[in-house]
Amino acid sequence: MMDIFEVIQHRRSVRSFTAQEVEEVKLSRILAASNDAPSAGDLQSFEIIVVREPERKVALARAAHHQDILVDAALDLVFLADTEASASKYGERGRRLYAVQDASIAAAYAQLAAVGLGLATSWIGDFDERQVRRVVGASERLVPVAILPVGYAAEEPEKPPRRRLSSLVHHEEL
Ligand SMILES: Cc1cc2nc3c(=O)[nH]c(=O)nc-3n(C[C@H](O)[C@H](O)[C@H](O)COP(=O)(O)O)c2cc1C
Repeated sequence: MMDIFEVIQHRRSVRSFTAQEVEEVKLSRILAASNDAPSAGDLQSFEIIVVREPERKVALARAAHHQDILVDAALDLVFLADTEASASKYGERGRRLYAVQDASIAAAYAQLAAVGLGLATSWIGDFDERQVRRVVGASERLVPVAILPVGYAAEEPEKPPRRRLSSLVHHEEL
């Protein structure tokens, strides 16, 4: 069992998956991790759609400019921000910012939970919002924020370079 720091270190964007299915118990734990994420006002202004049907995965990949990992993964998790749910309490700030943050944090928790369970993911953000909405039958108020293909890794990518901490952390002022 990895601790939280090992999970963070171990997580990489994996873009090649084996054909192995994801166990239901693991999927449940991933979704429960998203449900434990913090959210503005505890409103949880997001929805998660689990996509396993081959044809729908193909349609998602098409909506994501032919990123075929969405087809190869055992399943895809689509995270959508519910802009109106957050706006009902927080107005424009909720609509524009909090709902997207809620969905993003939920997706980040899902990524880390997946790694902790021996699975792999990648954050897919390059897609046509309208097409994704259509594929999963979502209304206008839902903004697709991220798609996570989830499966067993068929590759072990190297850690890509990061900025030096000293270049991104500032004490007291920029
Ligand atoms: C907002 C966002 C959008 C991204 N969109 C894509 C994408 O569409 N396709 C893809 O292959 N990776 C995508 N990525 C993954 C990044 O390329 C990856 O996180 C980055 O290269 C660092 O690699 P690492 O995740 O292995 O640390 C996205 C990541 C983020 C946070």
